[in-house]
Amino acid sequence: MSERIPAGDHASAPRGRRATLAIAMLLGAALSSGCFDYDPLMPPGLFGAASTGTPSVGDRGELPCDVVDLLVTKCQSCHGETPRAGAPMALVTWDDLTAKSPSDPTKTAAELSLERMRSTTDPMPPRPAPAVGAAALGAFTAWLDGGTQQGACATDVAPTPLASSGPLGHLPCEVEDLLAARCRGCHAATPRNGALVPLVTYDDLARPAPTAPSETVAAYASARMHAADAPMPPAGADTLDPAAVAAFDAWIAAGQPEGSCEATPDPFAAAQTCSSGRIWTGGNGGSSEMHPGVACIACHTTIGRGSAPVFLAAGTVFGTAHDPDDCDGVRGGVTVEITDAVGRVYRRKANKAGNFYVEAAGDGFTVPYTARVIGADGASRWMNGAQYSGDCNSCHTAYGLNDAPGRVLAP
Ligand code: HEC
Ligand code: HEC
Ligand code: HEC
Ligand code: HEC
Repeated sequence: MSERIPAGDHASAPRGRRATLAIAMLLGAALSSGCFDYDPLMPPGLFGAASTGTPSVGDRGELPCDVVDLLVTKCQSCHGETPRAGAPMALVTWDDLTAKSPSDPTKTAAELSLERMRSTTDPMPPRPAPAVGAAALGAFTAWLDGGTQQGACATDVAPTPLASSGPLGHLPCEVEDLLAARCRGCHAATPRNGALVPLVTYDDLARPAPTAPSETVAAYASARMHAADAPMPPAGADTLDPAAVAAFDAWIAAGQPEGSCEATPDPFAAAQTCSSGRIWTGGNGGSSEMHPGVACIACHTTIGRGSAPVFLAAGTVFGTAHDPDDCDGVRGGVTVEITDAVGRVYRRKANKAGNFYVEAAGDGFTVPYTARVIGADGASRWMNGAQYSGDCNSCHTAYGLNDAPGRVLAP
């Protein structure tokens, strides 16, 4: 679905439909649902659970569980109840899949979905996400060939992330360090980016896994770290350090004893402060150090149209998570690395004000892209999701918009 965008464009098509369900009900439904055969490597996720109690489900029709699993793990981060990131329709209910597709009314959404999942030029999910596996694709094809029969997996359940329960029981340091470095970008105290369980406190790891209640979240997390299909962290991230995974497994084998590691402070829990102590006072006077923290592209395409340079991507790296607008970010020392949908990599060093930018060039920029910030020592913080707008500061405001946690932060 490679889509070329003019700089600064961020498509979204919100829909009004939304279902909410109490966590208790969601859990209860997950535990009592007989609809999925539990396979630790291909979890159906909570959304696949039967949802007795939501009145609309019966009317809308239900899907087979293998179709639900595919949609939950590969499609609904964009094609959810409220589509995001430019996706034109929901792919949640039987009705959604059997409806005409938005761009081609001669095909149902399911038919076009199969085409796009098989496409090498315009795949779904869009690059850089990995293609749908052969087994899941086979099951989807069989369902289509069989006439898109309704199944037994109810689908109209909005995923309700579990919040971290606290109190902060202590984890051993090797477990704490692995989770802090590689998992909490999504599995934060309030999980984001499609993840449902927090992986923060001892209690978070000790409770039963929602989709595999006979196991603890920790044991299930270990299975997912080893899984070839649906691994954690999701495909696309750097592979885990085998020694760190081995230490995690040894902890589970030892019965998950409590440890004594101080919890890694969540950098996004910090207070607002201008951490550099330097403020931009040059107004709209053109400079590479101008307006740190403010959405560069939004202004360059309006107030600055014609006089300001056109950027494909631009933003500011800060020392703390909630620095105010016009406060200088880090004084250099970090590199921002942006990888576009066709694998072009743009590396830019943050300047004295923490600003960085990629100027429009001949071969353009194909969205969605992924981004990370790399420190002088090689440590990095990366954006787990792929984004469509290059205007980093438009989401990474002092407190964050569109689910961003706050500023783009130096590692
Ligand atoms: C990262 C977000 C994202 C994910 C994940 C994703 N899509 Fe999409 N999808 C989009 C966007 C954006 C469009 C519109 C642009 C386009 O058609 O390429 C789209 C369009 C489509 C269309 C075309 C609709 C039409 O009428 O033209 C189909 C079909 C589709 N997606 C199916 C899927 C399926 C099936 C999956 C999972 C296997 C999936 N998508 C995963 C973002 C996503
Ligand atoms: C890019 C964001 C991201 C990162 C980073 C990530 N996960 Fe996940 N995780 C998800 C999403 C999305 C789901 C739900 C879909 C699924 O099950 O694949 C999930 C599901 C899980 C689940 C099943 C419970 C749940 O929340 O649905 C476990 C356990 C898990 N992840 C463990 C881990 C561990 C351990 C790490 C770090 C080694 C990790 N994850 C890193 C996004 C992430
Ligand atoms: C409120 C509007 C506004 C914001 C926000 C803004 N700029 Fe600008 N920028 C301008 C205007 C207007 C110009 C052209 C000024 C001129 O012609 O002298 C400009 C020019 C520039 C130039 C060219 C300077 C030169 O020497 O020609 C650079 C580089 C630049 N901006 C970087 C950025 C970066 C990076 C950000 C975000 C961190 C940003 N700008 C945010 C309005 C803005
Ligand atoms: C449309 C909104 C949006 C835009 C634009 C955006 N981001 Fe993000 N960013 C997010 C969200 C949401 C998260 C948290 C979930 C995740 O990691 O995907 C995030 C997370 C991050 C993180 C990890 C946060 C941390 O420290 O744990 C980094 C680094 C990052 N973004 C960098 C960038 C850069 C660099 C750009 C511009 C090239 C950018 N982002 C543009 C929404 C956005």
